[in-house]
Amino acid sequence: MDDLNRFCESIPKIELHAHLNGCIRSSTFRQLLSSPTDQMRFDTLDKEFPMGDTHSRMANFFEKFSLLRSCITNLDDIRRITHETLEDFISDNVIYAELRTRPRSFQNGAIAASSYVEAILETMQEYEDKICSRLILSIDRTQTLEQAMETLKLAEKYRAQVVGLDLSGDPNVKSFERLRPVFDLAKQINLSTTIHIGELPDEECLNENNLIIDYKPTRLGHFNFRTDDQEQRVLKEQIPLELCPTSNLLTMNLSDLSKHHFDLFYKNKHPLTICTDDSGLMYCRLSSEIFQIVQTFRLTKKELYEFMFQTSNFIFDKNMIEFCQTKLKNFSEQLNLF
Ligand code: IMP
Ligand code: ZN
Repeated sequence: MDDLNRFCESIPKIELHAHLNGCIRSSTFRQLLSSPTDQMRFDTLDKEFPMGDTHSRMANFFEKFSLLRSCITNLDDIRRITHETLEDFISDNVIYAELRTRPRSFQNGAIAASSYVEAILETMQEYEDKICSRLILSIDRTQTLEQAMETLKLAEKYRAQVVGLDLSGDPNVKSFERLRPVFDLAKQINLSTTIHIGELPDEECLNENNLIIDYKPTRLGHFNFRTDDQEQRVLKEQIPLELCPTSNLLTMNLSDLSKHHFDLFYKNKHPLTICTDDSGLMYCRLSSEIFQIVQTFRLTKKELYEFMFQTSNFIFDKNMIEFCQTKLKNFSEQLNLF
């Protein structure tokens, strides 16, 4: 392994865009698949994923998520996934992670969504001395306004560890306008928000981008497809962007990273963070995502250090900024970096 790669592994890292169930280890996913039919479906989806255009890749990806959802059936499953995800981030020297998940109930409501959230928060707590992790609750694009409101209530109930609200799910479903009242309420109670934006190359998606930028969430995820005007607005408003190289490359159908919008925003000194999105399903790690960016856009070690330092300013739990910055400073002093 070369020196730069090792540096990317050892530098203390901050992960701000990781869907909990998307972080599932492939081996765990396979174990949870109960029937041979499901296993065959998984293999076919896995094989076919790299094929086709943005829309068909997205469809493949969301079918895999629906398969995954059907085989996670109890709180032990979610505890296991949380535990393994945190172990994987720790082994990659991630010091602060914001995981996001859509709360769900099990057994026709006998096990409530609040128990799902508590199971995750308890597991996170067990790891507090090894990794500082916080939770963002996701609202799915297909949910009703009432369901989204329930998620907001859960966020309020667990406010100490729940640090924000996310909008995600199948981007073919354009629902920001319908769900906006919940996001307005989040703003009123000072709950941070992050919204997936510009995931598809279609006109409806571009139209929705305007509504999302008008709302001005605390952070934006991806922003793969956008108009020049939207790009300028996000630059001007300085809305931090969560970029996920492997995920973006696959959904944008790009042949290599050199065409990724990291370049444009980085050159403009825009607030940025590099993240994994779905490390389990995408077979990636945060250090390798960062390494690819550093290698492609020829960042020096110093520039990467400064990049990670600026990322710490956009974490939702503002009480932990100093913690992240101290870890980074200690790292640079130990290595006698600069
Ligand atoms: P969960 O919320 O912990 O169950 O994480 C999995 C969910 O995250 C999926 O069912 C999707 O709704 C959402 N998700 C993961 N990746 C993406 C993405 O790239 N775009 C939009 N939604 C996503
Ligand atoms: Zn995402």
